[in-house]
Amino acid sequence: MSRFYITTPIYYVNAAPHLGTFYTTVVADALARYHRAQGDDTFFLTGLDEHGQKIERIARERGMDPQAYTDGIAAQFIETWKRAGISNDDFIRTTSARHKKAAAEMWGRIDAAGDLYTADYDGMYCVGCEDWKSEDDVIVEGGEKVCPIHHRPVERVTETNYFFRLSRYADKLLALYDTPGFVRPESRRNEVASFVRGGLKDISVSRMKKSVTWGIPVPADPDHVIYVWMEALTNYLTVLGGPEAVSRPGNAQDTWRSAYHLIAKDILRFHAVYWPAMLMSAGLPMPAGIFCHGYLTVKGQKISKSMPATRVDPAQIAEDLGVEPLRYFVLREYALGGDGDFTYEALLQRYESDLGNDLGNLLNRTVSMAHRFQAGKVDAYQPTDADASEEVVKIGRSWVTRTAGAHWQEFAPAQALETAWKLIREANRYIDAKKPWELGKDPARVQGAGSLAAVLAICCEALRITARLLAPAMPATARKILLQLGRPEQEADSWPTDGEFAWPGGTVGAAEPLFPRFDAEKKAALIAKWLPDSLTSSPAIAPPSPAPAAAPTAPAAPIEKADFDRIDLRAAKVLTCERVPKTEKLLKLTLDLGTEQRTVISGIAGAYTPETLIGRTVIYLSNLKPAKIRGVISQGMILAAGDTSVLALSTLDTEVPPGTPIR
Ligand code: MSP
Repeated sequence: MSRFYITTPIYYVNAAPHLGTFYTTVVADALARYHRAQGDDTFFLTGLDEHGQKIERIARERGMDPQAYTDGIAAQFIETWKRAGISNDDFIRTTSARHKKAAAEMWGRIDAAGDLYTADYDGMYCVGCEDWKSEDDVIVEGGEKVCPIHHRPVERVTETNYFFRLSRYADKLLALYDTPGFVRPESRRNEVASFVRGGLKDISVSRMKKSVTWGIPVPADPDHVIYVWMEALTNYLTVLGGPEAVSRPGNAQDTWRSAYHLIAKDILRFHAVYWPAMLMSAGLPMPAGIFCHGYLTVKGQKISKSMPATRVDPAQIAEDLGVEPLRYFVLREYALGGDGDFTYEALLQRYESDLGNDLGNLLNRTVSMAHRFQAGKVDAYQPTDADASEEVVKIGRSWVTRTAGAHWQEFAPAQALETAWKLIREANRYIDAKKPWELGKDPARVQGAGSLAAVLAICCEALRITARLLAPAMPATARKILLQLGRPEQEADSWPTDGEFAWPGGTVGAAEPLFPRFDAEKKAALIAKWLPDSLTSSPAIAPPSPAPAAAPTAPAAPIEKADFDRIDLRAAKVLTCERVPKTEKLLKLTLDLGTEQRTVISGIAGAYTPETLIGRTVIYLSNLKPAKIRGVISQGMILAAGDTSVLALSTLDTEVPPGTPIR
């Protein structure tokens, strides 16, 4: 059995998942699902990069302990991936004990190889990139040297650091790039090879504790922490038991040798230059390869958490459209490797044409005809020689499964799905040509080759193969299709074998449309809702647009002071915050009350996104009787301005400890 280990980058916890991170994670998930279905011993890893100056600062700005802050964001990632159907086998967090141990082990092996030394560093650092910058890497804006990616001034770092002898590994790296397929696509291989040929300098791999505290200590030197990238890359080994486990022949090593790192081009150098050099130094085998994809952009600008105008919220789209159409769209629309521009119009276009008109229609008409003409029963059928000349049978027999499989093997999801759609379109054409509704009227043409029974069975089989071909991209849809066909849903878990095209029989279920149609008005409303202007997209706390004036309402009747004293208002800090599925307005928050934590459901999602609330201190009505909202017990409520819609959150102008009473 061959092995397949696939990794995503471990994402920084400076914001919630966005369409860019969703993209890489969905591609990795689909690849993992294809390999599992195909019988490979598959291992799929994703996780979070939680250390470093960037995270330390964000947590500090929010007055939070970095661990509490990262725990809050980690909960959001885990929830988002769960809803997106991500089938990772492990989830790595770099603040875990197992990772700290593995990172220290890696450091020890590189040190033992004589590849670490201390020297004075005086240079520039971009906290956004968590990367050192040379004069060639920066641009000047407003008289200041800034990072061209983040457009923020780089910082001067003058400290004694540990350096890694990267320069030693240039020749070995160049030889590695000659291994066919080690860095893909070819253009990226050329890019790293020319970077290495241009000359490699040793790199600083530690920070002094006096400037960065949020990291893993350098073993036996407590004044330094390991540079975040150096320890982060080791995560890929941590989950296999760490560097020692991978150094010995055995299961962990075999899995490691089958590893593919799926990344975007922003982090190519770290993965294709630093990481293999570190592995060489540590005496460890190489992974199988690196596949580097391009950027998803909005109007040509890279989608990123620091650019609110590019914000596309996969969670919101998933709520309105279903997550699988979005998975399908990103896999089908962009050839993996290049850049691709995202538009809501293109998303709805594919939803309507590929999913609704092609796939949904094929399923719907097949199931409806089976009900209408055969009381839902479609008996087992082996296509005869006469049927074999039909295009749908020809391509369904082997071409489509072989070709789509080869595309998945080659990291080409868009082409794999395009191939699957050939079968869907061919099956629709076959129905149009055979006109089963006419065959149904003629008793002589109800059985045998070319008969109504044969046509329906061939359509059912085309759909059964289709379900399995699209299962890596849309696992739940594949199961729904099989169930409607009257087949066991587990059939979705195996890739069709070559030559297989025989309908095993089934009693079809009720015909239910998988992708409901939207009229033009509804589509426009969805796009208006999804556009970032209608969301609180900036990391700032204030609502995005000037709050509309609330219609003044008459003051309520006077109450006694004793009435007010019964109300227990407290300052409370938001620890975690996430959307409540299938709702537009509700957020679920965990609040720190000083002495305990409380869960609250709050109707403020129309004005605030979850990540803008984590770390905020809010005003909390703590003694409101608990109520069950959407299956969750909500304990109390947080206060906000506005009547029927939320205009602004009530907060305090100075930080006070959680639990402080408000009178
Ligand atoms: N923490 C590092 C990775 C360490 S891996 C040992 C990091 N994190 S990140 O949060 O910035 O994630 C970067 C990755 O997110 C990209 O390499 C890519 O996989 C994904 N993407 C982020 N924005 C994206 C686009 N706009 N388009 C495509 N991929 C995107 O770097």
